[in-house]
Amino acid sequence: MSQAVSINHQDEIAVISINNPPVNALSQAVRSGLVKCVSAAVAEQSIRAIVLICTGRTFIAGADISEFGKPPLTPYLPDVLATLEGCPKPIIAAIHGTALGGGLETALACHYRLALNGSRVGLPEVNLGLIPGAGGTQRLPRIAGLENALDMITSGRHVKAEEALEMGVVDELSSENDLLKIAIEFARKILTRDKTWPRSSEIKLEDSSVNQGVLKNWKTRVSKKARGQESPLAAMESIKNAIQLSFAEGLKKERELFLTCMASPQSKALRHIFFAERAAAKLPESVANTPIEIRTTAIIGGGTMGRGIAMCFANQNIPVKVIETDQEKLDQALNAIEKTYAKMVTSGRLSEDQRQQRLTKISGSCNHASLAQVDLVIEAAFENLEVKHSIFRSLDQHCRPDAILATNTSYLDIEAIASAVREPSRVVGMHFFSPAHIMKLLEVVRIPQTSATTISTMMKLGKQLGKRTVLVGNGFGFAANRMYSAYGREGQQMLLEGVTPIQLDQAMKNWGMAMGPTAVLDMSGIDIGYNARKQNPNPPDDPCYFRPANLLAERGYLGRKTGRGFYRYDPETGLASEDLEICALIREEALKLGVKQRDLSENEIQQRMIKAIATEGETIMSEGLATRTSDLDVIWVNGYGFPRWRGGPMHFSQSIDR
Ligand code: CAA
Repeated sequence: MSQAVSINHQDEIAVISINNPPVNALSQAVRSGLVKCVSAAVAEQSIRAIVLICTGRTFIAGADISEFGKPPLTPYLPDVLATLEGCPKPIIAAIHGTALGGGLETALACHYRLALNGSRVGLPEVNLGLIPGAGGTQRLPRIAGLENALDMITSGRHVKAEEALEMGVVDELSSENDLLKIAIEFARKILTRDKTWPRSSEIKLEDSSVNQGVLKNWKTRVSKKARGQESPLAAMESIKNAIQLSFAEGLKKERELFLTCMASPQSKALRHIFFAERAAAKLPESVANTPIEIRTTAIIGGGTMGRGIAMCFANQNIPVKVIETDQEKLDQALNAIEKTYAKMVTSGRLSEDQRQQRLTKISGSCNHASLAQVDLVIEAAFENLEVKHSIFRSLDQHCRPDAILATNTSYLDIEAIASAVREPSRVVGMHFFSPAHIMKLLEVVRIPQTSATTISTMMKLGKQLGKRTVLVGNGFGFAANRMYSAYGREGQQMLLEGVTPIQLDQAMKNWGMAMGPTAVLDMSGIDIGYNARKQNPNPPDDPCYFRPANLLAERGYLGRKTGRGFYRYDPETGLASEDLEICALIREEALKLGVKQRDLSENEIQQRMIKAIATEGETIMSEGLATRTSDLDVIWVNGYGFPRWRGGPMHFSQSIDR
């Protein structure tokens, strides 16, 4: 028998256990082991039922993604699952952790499903540019109904066991810890209760007008939401087959669609980013060390960033103190946090209990003496070196000598900030993105003096806060803002060449970006970048450098907050419209600068913008400011709304260069 799958007997019940760390993925060894163990259980006459259970942290979390893109190895998963469903003895899937993708498909092919409270199930294949490829699109609609299946498969969301029970995906839930014991009791119960075992392939789905209507509504919804992504639509097509074709035919078509998706550039890109995100969390050996535990934190500054960062900690149950310069500012900050949580309750994103729990984690003070016992301080004050210097001098006096001192600067020189303290090995950058409690990206910025313990602690903390955390080096704009600046600069150059803000934004949105670059500038405030550029110690010697944005900033057209920026904003509705005066102003400036006016195609705009990012990314790599090229993809996908299905700017550029 394969080591990854083993079988033992508990009287008349066979227990098949999968042990394939870390997540019991369905590797070839697991697939063949399953077939052998089920055959053995069928052959053994004393066995009347089979429990399928996994060791370690989770039930099967899906197919083994590392096998994708390589020649497929037998036995194929659909055949394995046909063996499970066709087994004459009832099979009970005992779920803990997460049953995902091929893992849930395995459970759906079993005759019964039992889950521990707190476990989750899902078919997240669309997130890898795939569709469920082992019967998920055919079995789930039969078991959970068309609407639930459409929701789960096209979104890829993980469904809590309690909801899965309501949908009928799970037959029973248990809150006891001993899953094996409960599963064996359950098996004994069904042996006395049931004469036949439910087989999902035998359930009939009607090709009724009601179901047709449901499909039509979902098609409109999914087409709108997918925005360029192919797999959710392919999944819909396969689900449609579940009501229009026989199970066997539906399964065959599902496999064809699955293989087409697997070969697509989108799936390659999404698989790349899946592994890139996990690789980014791994530290190079030279800086890996045992992290220390962060139990208490303080944030210096209760402005927008400080509040958002404080909420990140409270959301993870870590006590956090907000430090302000006076009581009025502190009250403002704490009230704003309360309001944000209250809004989240109103919109249903948070329960009242959660709100209260989180608020108990946040306290405030106007006195640096209250920092004496904290493990970590994050300074989130103005972007001004003098201000930061004086704060760090004070931290040096008031904090424990081993407390980590972080700065949330976006571009200032962290070595210069660290010069204010006696022990710079505990100084590090923690660059959150706004709104900090929502954005997934976190840059941990190290300076040469930062100790391995400090770096390891911050990387671990980033994961604990639910962030995609990337380690970068110190340099103006670090990695993220530096690349974004190259992207912005190229866009600004094209505005001078005659592209309008609308054309530029539309081109990038059509390409898949969440927002266009000038709309982003208007939203965040044109003065932010303007002031940041002024602090650049080595600005490029180029009169065109961000000239349109600078021009607007100099005239007080700062974007949404002033009602005018690259667009004009309706004071009542906030709706943006084209501002022809601004277009004319930019053109006039371009002529003064001698920039030739011409028409640029959408394709040229897109290619130039992405090339600008990738070129800057290569420079960042050559300067040793990031660990892996793929870390830069993680930055773009999680920080700037870059379409995941394009894999990030570095992956995209490399794939078209090949
Ligand atoms: N195949 C191979 N490796 C996998 C894997 C998979 N399906 N899922 C996770 N891993 C690996 C990760 O790469 C990581 O490896 P390293 O430690 O070497 O980096 C390790 O398992 C742990 O993963 P995480 O760091 O993500 O751990 P987590 O606890 O934060 O999350 C998880 C666990 C929720 C299972 C998450 O890993 C996850 O979402 N995995 C992907 C699940 C998925 O997409 N399944 C569908 C696969 S496609 C499919 O099944 C097609 C089909 O129809 C046949």
